[in-house]
Amino acid sequence: MSVLVTNIGELVTNDPEADDPLGVRTDAALVMDGDVIAWVGPATGAPAADERVDASGAAVIPGFVDSHSHLVFAGDRAEEFRARMAGESYAAGGIRTTVAATRAATDDELAATVQRLVAEMRSQGTTSVEIKSGYGLTVDDEARSLRIARGFTDDTTFLGAHVVPSEFADDPAGYVDLVTGPMLAAAAPHARWIDVFCETGAFDEDQARAVLAAGAAAGLKGRLHANQLGPGPGVALAAELGLAAVDHCTYLTDADVTALRDSGTVATLLPGVEFSTRQPFPDARRLLDAGVRVALASDCNPGSSYTSSLPFCIALAVREMGMTPAEAVHAATAGGAAALGRDDVGALVPGRRADLVLLDAPAHVHLAYRPGVPLVRQVWVGGEQVH
Ligand code: NIG
Ligand code: FE
Repeated sequence: MSVLVTNIGELVTNDPEADDPLGVRTDAALVMDGDVIAWVGPATGAPAADERVDASGAAVIPGFVDSHSHLVFAGDRAEEFRARMAGESYAAGGIRTTVAATRAATDDELAATVQRLVAEMRSQGTTSVEIKSGYGLTVDDEARSLRIARGFTDDTTFLGAHVVPSEFADDPAGYVDLVTGPMLAAAAPHARWIDVFCETGAFDEDQARAVLAAGAAAGLKGRLHANQLGPGPGVALAAELGLAAVDHCTYLTDADVTALRDSGTVATLLPGVEFSTRQPFPDARRLLDAGVRVALASDCNPGSSYTSSLPFCIALAVREMGMTPAEAVHAATAGGAAALGRDDVGALVPGRRADLVLLDAPAHVHLAYRPGVPLVRQVWVGGEQVH
């Protein structure tokens, strides 16, 4: 079935061939045929289609590609958040609280949480999502986390190297052996990616190298959490290995920035984290001015960023990180697609998957200009209206 979307106020295409990065077109129309975009052009020349959607002058943008989330968990950490807002600092030790709750949950409980959060994401315009494990940290709990995540996305990421669980507190090397051995073997059939939290208090550079190398040997592509809580070796390592993305990037040296530019590794910024931990926001302006590719993602998790909303992240990025609204929308769509190595989503050009969002606003700028307001009117995934 084909659908013609017409009377679009502003069409954000992210067309790589356009003069501006967002590839904005006015007086444009778009046709979806089956699950792909079939045609984009001036409204006056639009071909006939089986159905017609009147955008009534509203903006249409590509669906958001949320390239970083941790949706498989149980419980919440509202008390930890409350204490932080009263002045306590974030130390990532709370991850172990969620690990205990996740291990105690049933498969159905975990799947229901993922379902609820994916539905929240959808209703806020997210049409592709990456989901990590990392709150199980046993062979069985990591494997089941990924099996459950696989029910919702193909972009699943094995994060057994999230933190060293308490039962291995005296034997971190033994835990890395478990992650690179039996845990990886159980996880790999359900995962596309492998990730490591490379940070003081989590895993060091040598451990990260070992985990990424074992993952690569098992057919998993690498990504990293790095330079979140302080400077460190993770970003340089990601660039050296030519990983698709390195996430957080809050504390960067000039050499880190140059290495990212030269490797083409996407720097994924996660402003929900700095909002929720009261840490300094990453400097997106510095990265963009240096020519680094930037993505924005939610990092949705119960500890450091319990938001599923990319419109919220866009507003934060514009207000706090020096991004223009156009750069922020691009980073949350085409940027997320690049961070996942996806060329089938992230742009509204013929041949891409028909993933699009009709806003309750005339232009993409409103996503940052009207923070906290539900501006997502309709969401289409693969040519089907899902919201
Ligand atoms: O991306 N940085 C490590 N992992 C998560 C934090 C998870 C948590 O606090 O539970 C993150 O911020
Ligand atoms: Fe994360």
